[in-house]
Amino acid sequence: MTTVSLTTAPVTTLDVDALIIGITSEARQHVDGPPALPDEVRREVDRMLEQVGATGKLGEITRIPSEGMVRAPMIVAVGLGDVRILDYEKVRRTAGSAIRSLAGVNSAAIVVTSPDGPRIEAIATGALLGNYAFHDFRGVSAPGQPLPLERILITGSPRDEAQRTALERARIVCDAICRARDLVNTPPSALSPEEVAHAAIDAVEGLPVRVEVWDEAGLAELGCGGILGVGQGSANPPRLVRMEYSPRGARRTLALVGKGITFDTGGISIKPAQHMDAMKADMSGAAAVITAMRAIARLRVPVRVVGWVPTAENMPGGRAQRPGDVLTTYGGHTVEVLNTDAEGRLILADALEMAAEEGPYLIVDAATLTGAQTIALGKRTSGVMGRPDEARDGVWAASQRAGELMWHMPIPEELRPSLDSPVADIANIGERMGGMMTGAAFLADFVPEDIPWVHLDIAGPAYNDGSAYGYTPKGGTGAAVRTFVQVAEEMADGTLP
Ligand code: BES
Ligand code: MN
Ligand code: ZN
Repeated sequence: MTTVSLTTAPVTTLDVDALIIGITSEARQHVDGPPALPDEVRREVDRMLEQVGATGKLGEITRIPSEGMVRAPMIVAVGLGDVRILDYEKVRRTAGSAIRSLAGVNSAAIVVTSPDGPRIEAIATGALLGNYAFHDFRGVSAPGQPLPLERILITGSPRDEAQRTALERARIVCDAICRARDLVNTPPSALSPEEVAHAAIDAVEGLPVRVEVWDEAGLAELGCGGILGVGQGSANPPRLVRMEYSPRGARRTLALVGKGITFDTGGISIKPAQHMDAMKADMSGAAAVITAMRAIARLRVPVRVVGWVPTAENMPGGRAQRPGDVLTTYGGHTVEVLNTDAEGRLILADALEMAAEEGPYLIVDAATLTGAQTIALGKRTSGVMGRPDEARDGVWAASQRAGELMWHMPIPEELRPSLDSPVADIANIGERMGGMMTGAAFLADFVPEDIPWVHLDIAGPAYNDGSAYGYTPKGGTGAAVRTFVQVAEEMADGTLP
């Protein structure tokens, strides 16, 4: 367990393995405010950094020995680039890179020259997210793995209300993100739909959140043909989870829905072998809902939130659904399954209909829905779609304040006819070009027009198959968690229209 705390002790006396300082590209100097290091130490540090060629460019990491100038044996200078264009995301990323570069070290202190709430939150967030590691499934190689830091200090004042609250929020949100990453990284053999349901119960243990789980028999009783159809090819039966956080006095309800495919082989419309392993991340939306519920309850956000997690394993077993099958969703829509690999929308159809039936003020879903998302927006930017435009743009604006890369996309009306089926109300595949928007157009059929609904396609951003960067590790990223929490908070305080 990592602890992160604020300290007012003089920087020179801090008993840590490394002191992290920010330097800028102009002067290799601290950003602003009073010098955190005594003048003579600072001059010497600058001289040494100059000698080893540190430039202060954004993200650059330079280690120098402290040679007794401060108690910490090592100084890590992290480049902040041009301070005039420094923003909180850059602060989060540089804090993340600095901490990540120290894996294997026990403790570090981050020197902040002008601490205030937002800056402390950004630094703590970057540090806690950059410090993440997943070693649960290592065997003989476990002892050789560099461990995350145990203790992170940030220079600031624990007596300052704004800084203290900011730090606590960062702790809670990052705990949720790291839990979401764990769920995503857990191999599909160890995370069946039943285990997803257990993870939901586990995540909110001791918190005022009521969890209800439907098994196969329960789903059949409800008439959730989408979840059942997708799950029927697997030996691990599907589940639907409902999580309710109802603080006293809350008026509006936010519904969160997350796609929970524990593994997506494609089913009978099977996927190619290459990169199929990444389909363990196809429950990233579910992970975001489960862990955001935990964060929202821990933060005591004064808004009612209901989380919905439809979860199934998409396998080509002997009982699997076939292309050409027609299923009936919870709300009575019939769907012709033309491609069993377009399964996310089938399980979401049931869950969206159930969520909508309760008449929430807003529904936001997150799903690794389409490969087309990465074609449209790349691997790091999620798509935001929905209706009306105001709801979509309100959630998008919240995502920006939360620090997640997202962009809004339309649901062009001409896409809906491409989903027409000759035998059922709708087919589960349609126009291939702009496939991310076709996915959204499908989902739109299952949400009544009068309920604002926003869909986040997080297919690329949920899972980093490249190397780690900034505060983002390899593997599960925890995408959508911060946006979910931000939307709940903004609905509570009226920022969201
Ligand atoms: N889980 C996939 C989408 C996906 C692909 C997520 C790559 C992350 C990385 C989804 O279930 C899927 O297979 N979608 C199909 C839809 C198509 C058949 C209309 C796709 O994108 O090819
Ligand atoms: Mn699929
Ligand atoms: Zn899928």
